[in-house]
Amino acid sequence: MSDRKCGVWIIGALGSISAAAIAGAALLRKDLIEPAGMITSTILFEDIDLVAMDQIEFAGCDIREGKLLDSLTQLSDGSNAVSLERLLAVKEDLEQTKSWIKRGTCRNCGQAIESLAASDFEPKRHMRDDIDEFRCNLREFKRKKQLETVVVVNLASTEPPIPSSPSYESLAALERSIDEDDDSSVRASTLYSYSAVQEGCPYVNFTPSTGALTPAIVQLAGRKRTPLMGNDGKTGETLVKSALAPMFLWRNLEVLSWEGFNILGNMDGCILENPENKSSKLKTKDHVLSKILGYSPHSRVHIDYVPSLHDQKTAWNFIHFRGFLDARMSLQFIWQGYDSLLAAPLVLDLVRLMELAHRRGEYGLMPHLASYFKEPLCVQAHSLHEQVHLLAEYVRRVKEGPFTT
Ligand SMILES: NC(=O)c1ccc[n+]([C@@H]2O[C@H](COP(=O)([O-])OP(=O)(O)OC[C@H]3O[C@@H](n4cnc5c(N)ncnc54)[C@H](O)[C@@H]3O)[C@@H](O)[C@H]2O)c1
Repeated sequence: MSDRKCGVWIIGALGSISAAAIAGAALLRKDLIEPAGMITSTILFEDIDLVAMDQIEFAGCDIREGKLLDSLTQLSDGSNAVSLERLLAVKEDLEQTKSWIKRGTCRNCGQAIESLAASDFEPKRHMRDDIDEFRCNLREFKRKKQLETVVVVNLASTEPPIPSSPSYESLAALERSIDEDDDSSVRASTLYSYSAVQEGCPYVNFTPSTGALTPAIVQLAGRKRTPLMGNDGKTGETLVKSALAPMFLWRNLEVLSWEGFNILGNMDGCILENPENKSSKLKTKDHVLSKILGYSPHSRVHIDYVPSLHDQKTAWNFIHFRGFLDARMSLQFIWQGYDSLLAAPLVLDLVRLMELAHRRGEYGLMPHLASYFKEPLCVQAHSLHEQVHLLAEYVRRVKEGPFTT
């Protein structure tokens, strides 16, 4: 295990996934839970020098008022996702992180997100002021905690999609838009990712927000020799889809329709009630089937907010397919899980793998991390099996190759 200290800066630090990841890391450090759901704790990574859980420090920003402990208590009260005993075991760890949760920006995030902002929230006058403050926070965190690396993870609420524009595609155009305070082509998520990469921090976009990881930001990462990856963590329905869809392909069974119905009750679900924000999520869920099957069956994904479910998510999928003699058959599955508890171990894995990539001098998009995302950038492999193979191949190369420190 590496004895280097690694920082994690979470955008959306008071959210459910953030609370679950920070509490989970503390429980793992105390040996009070098993690392279920974390691939980096499996035999695949044996002999790989990953950052140890007790060398990871957390910080971040949010636009809401509140405490991490309250977010975790909601997971405990609302859906029994975390037991009271475990909650008490990490109370102090969460209190310690408190002073490291700073005020973020919700510039051009849309009404649904802006309504979450604290009552005394004062937007900055210029985008450059937002960037300066964020970069300054990252530097302070790194210096005061004596960290080798700070991995920035975007876990903020899903923004509406960003319209295509030159600022989306090119770094020069993006920097012009920032200098001109052009709200039409830059969202808060863009300011965060721009700042993170400028600081040389590995960056993960776990959200479907398209403003967060644009071609312009990828260009900047090339210049700054910084690793980055996204978009949209693959934790539930799409994970199952990407494992099941290849089966139909490999058995030459034509999928006629694949309908998905999701209900969830957490704040993420509430934000996704807004049609603009929901369209970002539907977009990343949309592509998987046609990319695996090579054709587009009739397919729609519905997402509905059911407050009483809290963090519980239920996905029912109906798959109608055609077999021998034109017979029509069907497969149905129901996936039930705690949204944040499915996501948190992936976040911890991604932090460790990003820290490793950064230490090894790797930069740009990280195709070997495709299996963690619904819409992995720069990767043609969309079936889960192929994506996991990419990760296994990477691990093999790391084990064989010279290790740069
Ligand atoms: N839970 C899953 O399984 C899963 C899977 C894939 C993607 N995601 C995405 O991950 C993100 C986080 O999910 P969650 O369940 O923790 O959501 P959440 O609503 O509990 O937390 C989001 C947090 O982000 C904060 N926020 C919003 N805009 C911000 C900004 N501009 N700057 C700083 N903070 C901001 C909110 O105040 C909130 O505390 C969402 O975008 C969600 O769609 C979740």
